[in-house]
Amino acid sequence: MTALVVRDLNKSFPGVEALKEVSLEVDSNGFVALIGRSAAGKSTLLRCINRLVEPTSGEVFLYSVNLTKLDVKRLREARRDIGMIFQEFNLVNRLPVITNVLSGRLGYVSTWRAIFRVFPKEDIERAEELLERVGLIDFRDNRADRLSGGQRQRVGIARALIQKPKLLLIDEPTSSLDPQIGYEIMELIHKISQESKIPVLISIHAVDLAKEFATKIIALRFGRKIYDGDPKGLNFDAVYKYEKAIEAEEAQEKTIQERAKDSQKVEMYEP
Ligand SMILES: Nc1ncnc2c1ncn2[C@@H]1O[C@H](COP(=O)(O)OP(=O)(O)O)[C@@H](O)[C@H]1O
Ligand SMILES: [Mg+2]
Repeated sequence: MTALVVRDLNKSFPGVEALKEVSLEVDSNGFVALIGRSAAGKSTLLRCINRLVEPTSGEVFLYSVNLTKLDVKRLREARRDIGMIFQEFNLVNRLPVITNVLSGRLGYVSTWRAIFRVFPKEDIERAEELLERVGLIDFRDNRADRLSGGQRQRVGIARALIQKPKLLLIDEPTSSLDPQIGYEIMELIHKISQESKIPVLISIHAVDLAKEFATKIIALRFGRKIYDGDPKGLNFDAVYKYEKAIEAEEAQEKTIQERAKDSQKVEMYEP
C-alpha cells in the first residue's frame, strides 16, 4: 500500500526555485532515503509535505488525504499523524527529558505549550515507555541540555513517536553527530520503523548510510529529482541518465517558450 504520494511539487523562494516538479511515493513499509548535496532541496521537500513550508504548487497525499487542500484546523490534526525528527533536535533545553517527549503530544509546532500543560497519566506512561525504548529511561528527569548529541536525538525520536504517527519525516538526523553515534541513531530509527510499521522519508547526507538502510533512494539536485529507485542501482550511469532526461525536458520546454515568445513578437508587429 502507498502511504505518501507527492505529485508535481514546486517551491520557489525569491530568487531560488528550491523544488521543481518533484513527484515521489513512499510505501507503507518503505524506508525512503532522500539524498543530495547541501541546498539540493531536501529540507524544503520534507517541510512542504506537512506544510511547515507552503508549496508553490503540487499535491501531497497521506493515505489519500490531500494535505495541500486542508484548512488550518484540519492541517493541525493531520500534522499529528506526521512525526518529525530534526537535524538540530529542536529540544527545549531547560526542560526535563520527559517533558520534551510529552511535548510531542501537542504537535511539533507548539513545544512551549508543554510547560504549562498537565499531562494525563496515560501520556506520561507512554512517554516513559518510549524513553525505555530509546534507552533513556534513566535520564527521564534530566534537563535536555545535559545530554550528549546522540542522547538528544534519541529524545527527538521518542518525541516524534508519542503521537503514534502514520509517517515519519526525518531531516538529516545524524549530521550533527559523530559517525559512530550517527550509525547507532540510524539503526535505532530503522528498527523502530520496522517494529512499529511506520513508513519513513529521511534525508541523509551520507550516501553509504542511505544505501545500507533504505528500501528506495531518491536523489535531488538543484531541486529536481535525478534518481528514484533501488539503492543498489544508484551509480553514476543511472544518475547521468536521469540528468540527461531532465536536460532534454528543459531544452524542449525552452523551445516551447521561445516559440511562444516568437509568436508574440509576430503579433506585436502585426499592423
Ligand atoms: N526560507 C527560505 N528562504 C529563501 N530561500 C530558502 C529558504 N529555505 C531554503 N531556501 C533555499 O532553497 C534551496 C534549498 O534549500 P534546502 O531545502 O534547505 O536544501 P537542503 O536541505 O538540501 O540543504 C537553497 O538554495 C536554499 O538557500
Ligand atoms: Mg537541509
